[in-house]
Amino acid sequence: MSINANDSTYQQLIMLPGPTNVPIEVTQAMVAPSIGHRTATFSSMMKEMIRKGKILFECQEDIIHLSASGTAAVEASITNILRKDDKALVTVCGEFGGRVSEQIASVGANPIELVADYGDFPSLSDFERALENNPDAKAAYIVTNETSSGAMCHWLKEAGDLTSKHGAFLVADAVSNWGADKMPLEDYNIDFIATGSQKACAAPPGLAMIALSKRYKEQMMNDPQKLHFLNLPRFIKMSDKVKQTPFTPCLPVYFALNKAYDIMIEEGMENRYIRHQICGKAFYDAFEAMGLQLFGAPETRSNTVISIAYPDGIDDKEFRGSLAKNYGVVVAGGFGEMMGKIFRVGSLGMINSYYVLTTISSIANNMNRLGFKANTDAAIDAALKNLSKL
Ligand SMILES: Cc1ncc(COP(=O)(O)O)c(C=O)c1O
Repeated sequence: MSINANDSTYQQLIMLPGPTNVPIEVTQAMVAPSIGHRTATFSSMMKEMIRKGKILFECQEDIIHLSASGTAAVEASITNILRKDDKALVTVCGEFGGRVSEQIASVGANPIELVADYGDFPSLSDFERALENNPDAKAAYIVTNETSSGAMCHWLKEAGDLTSKHGAFLVADAVSNWGADKMPLEDYNIDFIATGSQKACAAPPGLAMIALSKRYKEQMMNDPQKLHFLNLPRFIKMSDKVKQTPFTPCLPVYFALNKAYDIMIEEGMENRYIRHQICGKAFYDAFEAMGLQLFGAPETRSNTVISIAYPDGIDDKEFRGSLAKNYGVVVAGGFGEMMGKIFRVGSLGMINSYYVLTTISSIANNMNRLGFKANTDAAIDAALKNLSKL
């Protein structure tokens, strides 16, 4: 029997690299009565969210919440400091690195690309060499988790040490792994973290969060760019004055994210990182035991985006379509040049034994239905070995 995905009472498992499954109490928080965004009620909520955000991002400066998706936060990190002819390093090993490079070029600055193949990630020594060869680089942009391929940066802390030594800003496009992988802003010398509500913090889409360093903030405030919506100094000034936003905030998602922050604080960030590592490894081990081929280099594998190469004869559309229809499990396909070659499972946000085991058994069953002989028992055993550590 197939599942009726149009039945609004039926909840599919959203195993995408975002948006992710959302805890019921976070969803319910959105059903609160509306409030005015120029009121003391809004200001006190925003004050609370900034307080919680500072604990989670581990930073001193106030968090900025934009009513927009992650792209807006990444764009703001570029448009607020880069000027024509400035140089900026950028990691490019997939779609999202390519987009950051294009965004850098769109303000007339020069992107210096550190390129790696899909599934791989540029190395720390490449990064160090690029900084040495470009001592005038104003900033370095690292897409900390290349969502299109499932490769992550495993040397973010070292990158922060290097950029601060070279006097360049370090910007993290951490849209798909902030909240899942460790990146304390101040301890790692990161100047800007850009992320989105719909990813590892398990809230609905609609807000982009920005954490920044004192150094980055001062540069931006002292030399402001002519910007309108993404004018971060304007957000900061208004927040300092009345704890409000210059433009109408997306209130329901504010309510939801406020609740999601509570859940994150209650769990503790260290516990959260460990849970993501364990669940990510459970997926990798299980898919390998099932007989599938993992995509990408083992040493650069992401904890949150699990990429698997399709076996010969398995069609992307048919596989993902029947997985959603018959098992209620939604996974992502490949992006750009990976389209049809890989599928991607999001292992982030609420991820736990239930999500991992349901996804693995559904995928194994579906593969068998489509003619690939998947070793279901070995896959479940491999997953359970890891999940017992939770
Ligand atoms: C690494 C990365 N950067 C940027 C984005 C863009 O985020 P959004 O779609 O929220 O604008 C994404 C989205 O998946 C992403 O994974």
